Parts: sequence; C-alpha cells; structure tokens
Amino acid sequence: MFHNQTAVITGGSSGIGLALAKELRLRGARVVLISRSGVKLKKAQTVLAEIPGDPVNVFRCDVRNYRQLRRVFQEIEKSGPVSILINSAGMVHPGKFETIPVSLFRRTMAANVLGTVHACRAAAPAMMSRHAGTIVNIGSLAGMIGVFGYTAYSASKFAVHGFTQALRAEMKPHGIHVMLAAPPDTDTPMLHEERKLLPRESAAINASGGLLSPKAVALAIIRGIEKRRSIVVPGFEGKFAYYASRFIPGIVDAVMDHKIRKAQSGKP
Ligand SMILES: NC(=O)c1ccc[n+]([C@@H]2O[C@H](COP(=O)([O-])OP(=O)(O)OC[C@H]3O[C@@H](n4cnc5c(N)ncnc54)[C@H](OP(=O)(O)O)[C@@H]3O)[C@@H](O)[C@H]2O)c1
Repeated sequence: MFHNQTAVITGGSSGIGLALAKELRLRGARVVLISRSGVKLKKAQTVLAEIPGDPVNVFRCDVRNYRQLRRVFQEIEKSGPVSILINSAGMVHPGKFETIPVSLFRRTMAANVLGTVHACRAAAPAMMSRHAGTIVNIGSLAGMIGVFGYTAYSASKFAVHGFTQALRAEMKPHGIHVMLAAPPDTDTPMLHEERKLLPRESAAINASGGLLSPKAVALAIIRGIEKRRSIVVPGFEGKFAYYASRFIPGIVDAVMDHKIRKAQSGKP
C-alpha cells in the first residue's frame, strides 16, 4: 500500500514523526521530512539511510510560515505527487495558567494549529485534483481531555481535533482520507523536555495514562491509514481514557480532581 508513495512528514526529524518515517520507509515509501533544525534533519537522514530505499529529502522550514511551506510543497511535487501528509510538528510548554504568558498561547496555537492548517492547505489542492491522498494530523489525548497544566496545549490540540473532523468531512468526497491520531504520553525528546516543566498535579494525572514508544504509536497510525480510520488513539490506557471521557465525563473529572487534591496535599 505504501510502496513508491511519497510521504511528507512535518516534524519528521524526531520522535513520533521520525518513527513514522522509519516504518513508512520499511514499507517502501519515499519519505520527505520538514522541520526547522538542519542538525536534527541531517541526523534523521543518517538514521533513515540505514533502511534501503530512495534518498530521503529534507526541507528546513518553520510550519508557522505558510508562504515558505507552500513553496516547499511546490518543490516536492516537482519530483512526484505527495500521497501522504503527516503533520507531526508541534510544541508543548506546560505550566499553571496564571504563570503562562499570553505570548506562549499564541506560539502554541501558531505551531500546533496553524502549522497543521498550513501544511494541509499547501497539500490538499493537488491531492484533490488527483482524487487521492491521505492526511494524518497528530493531535493528542490532551486534545480530547483537558488536563491540569496544559491550558495552552490542550486548547491547541482540541483545535487540531475539530479542524481534522471538519476537514475529513470535506475531503472525503474528493477521495482523500483524513485521520486524527491522538497519542497519550510517548517516549520522545518532547516528553523529556515537557517533564522538566510539569506541575506536580499534571505529573500525577499523567502517571496513570501509560507511556508508549514512538514505534508503537507509529504502528498504530499506519494500521489506521491502512483501515482508513477517522480517529486513532494508540494504546490501551489511551483508548480507555478517550472512551471514558466521552461516555462518563463526570467520573473522569472526579478522578482527575482527586489526583490533583492528593498531589496538592503532598500525600503519596
Ligand atoms: N510525546 C508525547 O508524549 C506526545 C503525546 C501526544 C501528542 N504528541 C504530539 O506528537 C507530535 C510529535 O511530538 P514528539 O513527541 O514526536 O516531539 P519531538 O520529538 O520534539 O518532535 C517534534 C518535531 O517537530 C518539529 N517542529 C517543532 N516545531 C516546529 C515548527 N514550528 N516548524 C517545523 N517543525 C517543527 C521538531 O523539529 P525542529 O525543532 O527542528 O523544528 C521535531 O522534528 C506533536 O504534535 C506532539 O504534540 C506528542
């Protein structure tokens, strides 16, 4: 299914995006990575070169910059049609609401929401003209359940969720499959940085959500693409939390409030 397909991955130089690049390459896809740091892109290229396949093309671009991103997609399309777009570029900076500057909300929304919108807007018209394509937007479990310490991040990922649902409905008649992936905590460089900033209440809540490897998340996403799912929540704990938040939201709130009180009281 992926053989000779071109997959463009924003945020493909690290974490979940890099794991997806590896798995897609193993399945015969041509992968193209987009992110900001040339050093990280070069490292990812070296890692991916260990897997046989076409050369891995990389583009340095900030997904917040639509004009630049559109030029990158025009450049990529010159060497072949983009079959799969994966939006994995993103950022998180947790903290209690009253301590987070409004500028951080703007930055988070620009990277996570507008970055995703920009790449979809740059890729969709060509996919529509071919009546084929797949778009995967990486949201988060924190984009389905609002979590203590993540006001900026949860707001941005709820927006990614809503955007993806609406886009799915619009793209389906054009033969384009649009899917949201909502991973729980995943062992990536982002999580390591995030944990340094976590309020203890957030850490107490996250501790019950499980921890997945980037490979496990990538494999769940690939299965979702193959089965043309609209939403993928990787891992048992993630699925449990997602369904609980939909069907028994009051209980989920009560459990989280209990964990917050316990963390604030300092009791183990
Ligand atoms: N790790 C988790 O626990 C977790 C859980 C749920 C959802 N997610 C989501 O999964 C996605 C990937 O996260 P990850 O954990 O794999 O993080 P990661 O290892 O830090 O990777 C993030 C990638 O995005 C790129 N990036 C960040 N900002 C960018 C920008 N403005 N323009 C272009 N590229 C940008 C980074 O490269 P440069 O910095 O060089 O640009 C890097 O390649 C994110 O959307 C994240 O919110 C992660």
